Amino acid sequence: MKRILAATGNRHKLEEMRQILKPCGVEVLGAGDPGVPALPDVTEDGATFEANAVKKAVEVAAATGFCTLADDSGLEVVALHGAPGVLSARYAGEPGNDRQNVIKLLHALQGIFDRRAQFTCVIALATPAGLIGTARGEVRGRIIFEPRGTSGFGYDPVFVPDGQHRTFAELPGAVKNSMSHRGRALEATVGSGLFDKLT
Ligand code: IMP
Repeated sequence: MKRILAATGNRHKLEEMRQILKPCGVEVLGAGDPGVPALPDVTEDGATFEANAVKKAVEVAAATGFCTLADDSGLEVVALHGAPGVLSARYAGEPGNDRQNVIKLLHALQGIFDRRAQFTCVIALATPAGLIGTARGEVRGRIIFEPRGTSGFGYDPVFVPDGQHRTFAELPGAVKNSMSHRGRALEATVGSGLFDKLT
């Protein structure tokens, strides 16, 4: 079993990473686990998911001495020209609040017929010596008019992936993970052999 630290304070992301990577022989450690030092605060000021994921992975690996996995992800809505994008976590302002973000999104889309959107996730992997590499995953779908479902987090209650009629928040976690941006990015991370490059 390979062990890797997740550079996230988001317990939902951490849980999804654990579920997805366990069958691949990768154990994901999180802040608060025994033996894991406090994670440094990393300012996510990059213009792209790649830039932010790389920054988080490299800075957390250097500060903690652990091989580190970082996820930067978000929702891009076609009719909003890609917003909220890299600002997804704090779309409705600081500190980030999932419920307020969803309300703001539905408000921005009021009267708009084109509901197409996609989630994107970039995974970056780093050792204390520097970046190992990145991998990307995407899932297309649409934004519905009223939130539905109670699982997941973020924009899950208003996102229906293509080919489904249920939102991510209505689908069982394992089904979400099998088709989500995070599932696909982690699958690509494993598939491209990035974990094998860890010392
Ligand atoms: P990050 O911490 O900057 O990567 O922000 C990610 C934000 O994008 C989250 O706070 C959510 O608002 C949104 N997001 C990313 N992945 C998901 C997901 O799987 N479901 C719902 N929202 C997500």
